[in-house]
Amino acid sequence: MIILAIDTSCDETSVAVTEGRKVLSHLEYTQVATHAQWGGVVPSLAKRAHEDRIEWAIEKVLSGKKGQTGWSMDDIDAIAVTVGPGLAIALEVGIRTACMYAKRYDKPIIPVNHMAGHIYSCFVQNTRGNPARPITFPYLALLVSGGHTELVRIDDHHTFSIIGETRDDAMGESLDKAARMLGFGYPGGPVIERMAERVDNVDTFRFPRPMIRSEDLDFSFAGLKTSFLYYTQKMDPAEKLEKVDLLASSYQEAAFDSAIRKLAKAIDMTGITSVLVAGGVAVNTRLRSLVRSTVRLRGGHVHFPPYKYLNFDNAAMIGVAAGHMEPVQYVSSQNLDTLDRIPRLRLA
Ligand code: KG4
Ligand code: ZN
Repeated sequence: MIILAIDTSCDETSVAVTEGRKVLSHLEYTQVATHAQWGGVVPSLAKRAHEDRIEWAIEKVLSGKKGQTGWSMDDIDAIAVTVGPGLAIALEVGIRTACMYAKRYDKPIIPVNHMAGHIYSCFVQNTRGNPARPITFPYLALLVSGGHTELVRIDDHHTFSIIGETRDDAMGESLDKAARMLGFGYPGGPVIERMAERVDNVDTFRFPRPMIRSEDLDFSFAGLKTSFLYYTQKMDPAEKLEKVDLLASSYQEAAFDSAIRKLAKAIDMTGITSVLVAGGVAVNTRLRSLVRSTVRLRGGHVHFPPYKYLNFDNAAMIGVAAGHMEPVQYVSSQNLDTLDRIPRLRLA
């Protein structure tokens, strides 16, 4: 089944053509530069940028890469679109466009949960079917993005239960806020990672790790943020500048340590040792190495999204997630009024 997939949940306008786990064609247009000057994603600007690009992106993806013949809408069996979670007015652009194509070409729509997409990003293959590794349930997923931090148990295709989640900030959001307190712009995650690498990821300041001793599998990053704010406010500007790498590194260690401990607890509680890590923060080298050693120590193995672009928001993962959904979940082109955005859609 060949799927045309669309994701406009936040600040990437992304379109893909997928077949099963394979990505046949893919394109994303990032709006980072548009939002950077505002210190975060501005929904109204995101909406307009999606509107400006979406149809162009669809036509471009369908035309294929140089040397490829591409696809006509006759080749497409269904249109997958992210319906949530995400920014309401950004999601609407993708859904409206998907409906327009579905009506015009009489195709069913597959509504996809964006977080399910992040999970399936670990299973995505290139055109040649690599990596070939089979999918073998059950899995535990640690999802770490700008808007979400969740531990999810996956027992079969699209059979999820959230077993832990953040009570306040998401991990990516927390790194973005710390970077802002140090005077850096959005997105802050990559800046923090580079500064931490310069000092070998030391944990000089030992900032608090809220909730690590709680019995459940939930996370909390707000206390860490507040303690970091007080600490940096007390420093004089010259000292803060001199110690900026150490501060960034210590913050990152505290944030990652709290997540890793809950991941370890989740493995011990469930006995599931196949771990998926996905979402924007999953690209971080330090997080990857901490997760690898934690999981290996428990005799398990970890799967990250196999290609870099798959860590971030993209339509390829949406197409692959859709390709593993049941036909009863499709919405026919005669029934599109039932389709709506669900900004706070949950996985389970
Ligand atoms: O998954 P994503 O692209 O968008 C959402 O669905 O939220 O994640 C974006 C988040 C941002 O908070 C960004 O700071 C973080 O991912 N991020 C990183 C890195 N690159 C992006 N965090 C840590 N290290 C990185 N290298
Ligand atoms: Zn995302």
